[in-house]
Order: sequence, then structure tokens, then C-alpha cells
Amino acid sequence: MHKSREPLLEMQGIVKSFPGVKALSNVDFTLCKGEIHALMGENGAGKSTLIKVLTGVHELDGGKIVFNDKNIRPKSPQEAQKLGVSTVYQEVNLCPNLTVSENIFIGRLPKKKRGIDWNLINEKSKEILRRVNLDIDPTQMLSSFSVAIQQMIAIARAVDISAGILILDEPTASLDENEVKQLFKIMRKLKEDGMGIIFVTHFLDQVYEITDRITILRNGNLVGEFMTKELSRIDLVTKMVGREINEKEHNLENRKKRRSSEKIDTMVKAVGLGKKGTLEPFDIEMKKGEVLGLAGLLGSGRTETARLIFGIDRADNGVVNIDGKDIQLMYPKKAIEEGLGYCPEDRKKEGIVGELTIRENIILALQAKRGSFRYISKREQVEIADKYIKMLQIATPSMEQQIRNLSGGNQQKVILARWLATNPKLLILDEPTRGIDVGTRTEIQKLIRTLANEGMTVLLISSELEELVACCDRIVVLRDRTPIGQLQGDEITESVIMKTIADGGKVNAS
Ligand SMILES: Nc1ncnc2c1ncn2[C@@H]1O[C@H](COP(=O)(O)OP(=O)(O)OP(=O)(O)O)[C@@H](O)[C@H]1O
Ligand SMILES: [Mg+2]
Repeated sequence: MHKSREPLLEMQGIVKSFPGVKALSNVDFTLCKGEIHALMGENGAGKSTLIKVLTGVHELDGGKIVFNDKNIRPKSPQEAQKLGVSTVYQEVNLCPNLTVSENIFIGRLPKKKRGIDWNLINEKSKEILRRVNLDIDPTQMLSSFSVAIQQMIAIARAVDISAGILILDEPTASLDENEVKQLFKIMRKLKEDGMGIIFVTHFLDQVYEITDRITILRNGNLVGEFMTKELSRIDLVTKMVGREINEKEHNLENRKKRRSSEKIDTMVKAVGLGKKGTLEPFDIEMKKGEVLGLAGLLGSGRTETARLIFGIDRADNGVVNIDGKDIQLMYPKKAIEEGLGYCPEDRKKEGIVGELTIRENIILALQAKRGSFRYISKREQVEIADKYIKMLQIATPSMEQQIRNLSGGNQQKVILARWLATNPKLLILDEPTRGIDVGTRTEIQKLIRTLANEGMTVLLISSELEELVACCDRIVVLRDRTPIGQLQGDEITESVIMKTIADGGKVNAS
């Protein structure tokens, strides 16, 4: 054990159940001063639940929490904050229609004799934001900033509130490489100041870069606690998943299967599609049964391309041709009817309907495709939901569970199921494995290949080069909102993709 081990927080024998689910059984967790501690496990393992009992979102069924040598049992996040525990959750949970300052000081506004001192608050907010290197106007609405900036604002707020423990539950899912670097810098500084940081992520590279210690959960049970530098990557994965998985082997297998697209029929073609201020007019062609990747940095126009094809954003000009048929005016309902599916990146905003059950969420797009007059019978709904729950290994006691009660990664799987259920001609997947654990990630990548081999066309947007290499037959690289190169066959390697993103390449993206 570490010499300077000075426990800040000890959770002992923690038990928490939900109807039909034992989310935590007898879990121990220790956090020391000045350490960054990774909490790892598959989707549904209990990571967020452990955090939520610590922060008073859920009440515990058993066990005790000792913080700074005192027994605590926070009844609400506010109470936890007062004790010095603050949290940034998986999805940004600030108020979009308040200003940045209001968000930073919500629930703890300093008061003057008469009313609230806004000048002071705005000044203080600027200072707090500067600590995370954000130089933005705090009087702006939160919603006017990108998800990444909103996430950094949430982190700035949490850092300002917290005295002892900072919890980051998948904060990096929506950050790009530079923003992650920025965040790590801040985390290192807080660590030096003696803060204890709990860090949840599915990015293994990040775990090895920033954390000192790892606690692993599986199915609500504690697997163990390890020093990061003493646990190999393969051991970590094996302990999380409970079996061995070999990512490399699977990637090689796919590489052999990659097909040349020359002789295959075109399935979807966008010609001169563009929108002023968003995307230069571009042509893009997707073959039947092909996985076409879109690569590029955050902001290069990948998601915008998908949104224009699906008609979420209306194109100024150009046309989408599906299976030989020109669609002049594309909008989502039309897109679904014509056989497109779109699994968005921001699942909370565009994906899940929290109050509906898993079954209802899965059936949603299929019902839209068939039209409201052709109601899908309960029996068929159950059949379909059952099929995808099994296929994607969605962890839930029942398909009648409200989707908001699922773990983050399992919600993501439900959205994927929704689009698979429509059996689309073209399936657009925007970062399909964000927030998905390593084991399931490989399964989803295999599924993408299988679907393509069965004739589905897939447009895959991913920031993971590994994922693009594992799945794609062809890749279009975007930069500054326009295609700058195309890769196929043996050119599809991580280093060539990276080089093309950086230097550009042959301009031939049709
Ligand atoms: N409010 C709730 N009601 C019912 N069940 C819940 C609730 N919250 C969590 N669960 C269940 O508890 C289990 C653990 O979920 P938790 O959110 O802690 O997983 P996680 O490890 O954070 O996973 P992920 O990596 O997907 O975020 C899951 O089976 C989940 O469905
Ligand atoms: Mg979680």
C-alpha cells in the first residue's frame, strides 16, 4: 500500500437496490487526499449509483460513509455540497436558459442589503472561469455555448464549490483532445492542493494518463482496488468484463474483410448539399452495404453533414438521392419514411424520452416510419424490444422500466436499438460508442460490420481512429467544414487518417 495513504473518504459495505436491481452489494471504496481515483466498470456496473449515494441523490440501504473522520449521510446534493463534495455528472445538468453567472451561483447567490449584487457575481464568475482557462462573457446564456464549454463551466462551478472531493462522472465524453488536456491540467493542480478526485471514464488511455488508483465494480460488486501503474490494461479490461476480450484480433479480422466499393451499387448520394455558414456544398456517395466513415476534428463538419442528409438542418441547395429517388426537400419524418436512420451524438437532448419505457423508446422511430394509422400491436412491440435488449445486452430488469432509470451506457444502447428496429437502408451513427464500456464497444463494432455485410449502408462518425479502422470500408476526411480527402483499402490505418486530418490529402471525396 501507498505510504502517504491518508483516507479522506471511506465508504464501507454500501448497499443500494432499486426495484428488480441490486445496484450495489456490499461495496467498499476509499479515496485519499491528493489522489485521482478511477471508478471503472461496465455499463450498469454501479459507478454512477455509488456516486449518487455519496452525494445524497439516492439514500443508501446499508453501509456507512466516513468523510474527514466523521460519519455522514447526505440527504440531498445541496447537503453534500455543504460538506465539501461536488459533482459533475455524465450529462451537463445546468440550466440552459440562465446565464453562465447564474448557473455558477445557483442556490448560493451572495446578497447585498437590497437584492443581489450582479456586478460582484459577474466579476467572481469571470475569476472562477479563468481558473479553468475559460475566457467567456458570464452574462451570456448558457445555451449559447457548445456542449464542451458548458461542461467546462459545470466543472468550474464544481471546483469552486468543493472543498474536499470533486467527482467527475464521464466529464470527457463531449470534450475534444485539447479540452481534455485542459481538464487534466486543472485536475493535477487540484490534486496538488490536496483534493480527492473521483474520475469515471470509459477511455482507458485517460485512466492511465491521469489516475493514481483504480477501483473496479462488476454487476454491483467490488472486484478490487489497484494502483494504476501496477495494473496492466489487459488485466483491467478482464477484471471489468469478467472475461478476456481481444480488441486487436477483432480489428485485424475486419481489415481482411474490408471491401472495395467500386462495383457495388450506390445506395445514397448527396449532390451539392450545403448550407450557408454551416457547410460548403459537397457531394458524397454511399454504396449498398458499405460502412463509410467521416473523420475529422471536432467542429470539422461531421455532425453537420449528417444533419443535412437527414434533414434536421434544412439544406440551402443540393439534393439527396436514396436508392435512385431524388428527395428535394428532406426533413426527419421524410428521411425515416425513405429508409434513413440517425442515431445522434447528444442522446439526452435528441435521443431519449425519459418518461417512456424502454419498449416505447425502442418502438418510437419504427412507429413513425409506419405512420400513426398503422399502430404496432403490443405483441409486436414486445417481440421487437425483446430482440434488441438481447442483441445489445441492455441491462434492465424489464422492458417496462422507464428509460431514465437505466445507466448512461444502456440508454445509449436503447437509442441504437430504436434505429436498428426500423431496418434502415442507411443508418447514420454519430459517435455510437461514446459512454459504452470496452466489452460492449467491440460488440457494437462487430454488429456494424454484420449489418453492412447484410446489405445495410452505414455512415459512421467517430473521433476514435481505432473505431474507424475497425469498421470502415472507406473514409472521407473533413476539415474546416469541407471534405479534404478520401481513404480506402490499405490506406485505412490510424496513422494515415491522422496525417490526412492534419495535412489534407487528395481532394476527391465523391
Ligand atoms: N433510479 C433508478 N431506478 C432504477 N434502477 C436504477 C436507477 N438508477 C440506476 N439503476 C440501475 O442500477 C444499475 C447501476 O446503474 P449505474 O447508473 O450506477 O451504472 P454505471 O456503472 O454508472 O453505468 P454507465 O457506464 O452505463 O454509466 C443499473 O442496472 C441501472 O439500471
Ligand atoms: Mg454512469
